Amino acid sequence: MKYLIALCLVVSAFAQAPKPCDSPPQWEAREIRQDYSRKFEEFRKLSYDETNRRVREVEEILLGSDKEYVDRLYLYNEAKNYSLNLKTKVCTVTALTRPFRHRGVFPGAKFDGIFNIGAVGVSGEVVAVQAFSANGTDGFYTGLVTYPSCYPVQNLFFSKANGFEHSDYFDLNIGIVDLNVFVPPQECIKAEEEMNKKKIMPVTDYEQKYQEYRRLSYDETNKRERQIAEVDVGGDKAYYDRLILYNENKNYTLNLKTRICTVSAINRPFHYRGVHPNAKFDGLFELGAVGVPGEVVAVQAFSANETNEYYTGLVTYPSCYPVQNLHFSKTHGFEHSDYFDLHIGITDLNVFVPPTECLKAEKSQKISPVV
Ligand SMILES: *[C@@H]1O[C@H](CO)[C@@H](O)[C@H](O)[C@H]1NC(C)=O
Ligand SMILES: *[C@@H]1O[C@H](CO)[C@@H](O)[C@H](O)[C@H]1NC(C)=O
Ligand SMILES: *[C@@H]1O[C@H](CO)[C@@H](O)[C@H](O)[C@H]1NC(C)=O
Ligand SMILES: *[C@@H]1O[C@H](CO)[C@@H](O)[C@H](O)[C@H]1NC(C)=O
Repeated sequence: MKYLIALCLVVSAFAQAPKPCDSPPQWEAREIRQDYSRKFEEFRKLSYDETNRRVREVEEILLGSDKEYVDRLYLYNEAKNYSLNLKTKVCTVTALTRPFRHRGVFPGAKFDGIFNIGAVGVSGEVVAVQAFSANGTDGFYTGLVTYPSCYPVQNLFFSKANGFEHSDYFDLNIGIVDLNVFVPPQECIKAEEEMNKKKIMPVTDYEQKYQEYRRLSYDETNKRERQIAEVDVGGDKAYYDRLILYNENKNYTLNLKTRICTVSAINRPFHYRGVHPNAKFDGLFELGAVGVPGEVVAVQAFSANETNEYYTGLVTYPSCYPVQNLHFSKTHGFEHSDYFDLHIGITDLNVFVPPTECLKAEKSQKISPVV
């Protein structure tokens, strides 16, 4: 499985590095979880209690669907994992096989920047978020929280043991309305009596992952896109400047370190950002700190299931400015983009003119179109 995480900035706004803020330790929200391998997104009601290290996740049932729905309760202090199938009412109880996963700001996280999500300049449709990342013992983590209240907006987690996990939080409220939410359901208490305690395996290995910050210029009308990686000075990773002209079937990739440009034909159809033309509406949610003025924005969720691609999108309500897109395809794996500091229009149309190195490379190279 391939993963590409792109944080797309039109204007970067790195502020001075503050200390990580403290996210509220107890809250409830709706969570959207993408399951990339199975190509669907799941809506859950999440109750999160960091103080007592316990989490309840109840999937929201879509009427008429024949998919399985699960009600999960994780008690980390007792290393117990209760999983109740809401259709069959069968509960499985197992030992928790991974450490507690912090949501919001991970302990020891480093500050990566402060950005605007939503419609910059449109009153009530923009929220400032802080980005953090941390390299935990069992995986690489990123988090977005509102500024200044530090309410969770998004978490990404990569680990060798569990792969890639992505959570977006909506309609978040501080506190737990009913603490009984952390009491196992009846079916599970019975199942527990028959449970064989398994040995808890520590998860020590992890894969190295990273996220990339880019400047993105997107032109749907002329089907073209420019993506310029923000170079992390001193890093030894390769950075690219890409120009993709779909109408001309040209893909220019300039390595910003070596200044070598490769020109090739495009290997896939145009990638819609924002709302896909065939998308269906999945819901309207609030992102950010519900009830905190200036720290909350309404977003609409959409998804589309095309022949070769599964797509989801989040846009602001009502102006429809892109907030996030996920694309999943067999050929390109999973791609995730978050948009920050978005501005309407293209400041300088020359951004769609290939860099000099690429024009030279193109002259000395014959491009064969994809059949
Ligand atoms: C998407 O389409 C594929 C095949 O066309 C189907 O198997 C899958 O269930 C669909 N997924 C959703 C979420 O509709
Ligand atoms: C909990 O148990 C379910 C069902 O056995 C399993 O699919 C899931 O991965 C487990 N979760 C954790 C965190 O151990
Ligand atoms: C995570 O830690 C590993 C080993 O400690 C290090 O090699 C890697 O560069 C770190 N990754 C990030 C993104 O900080
Ligand atoms: C453009 O080329 C780069 C490098 O060769 C490749 O990684 C990328 O997938 C290509 N993109 C498209 C849309 O063809």
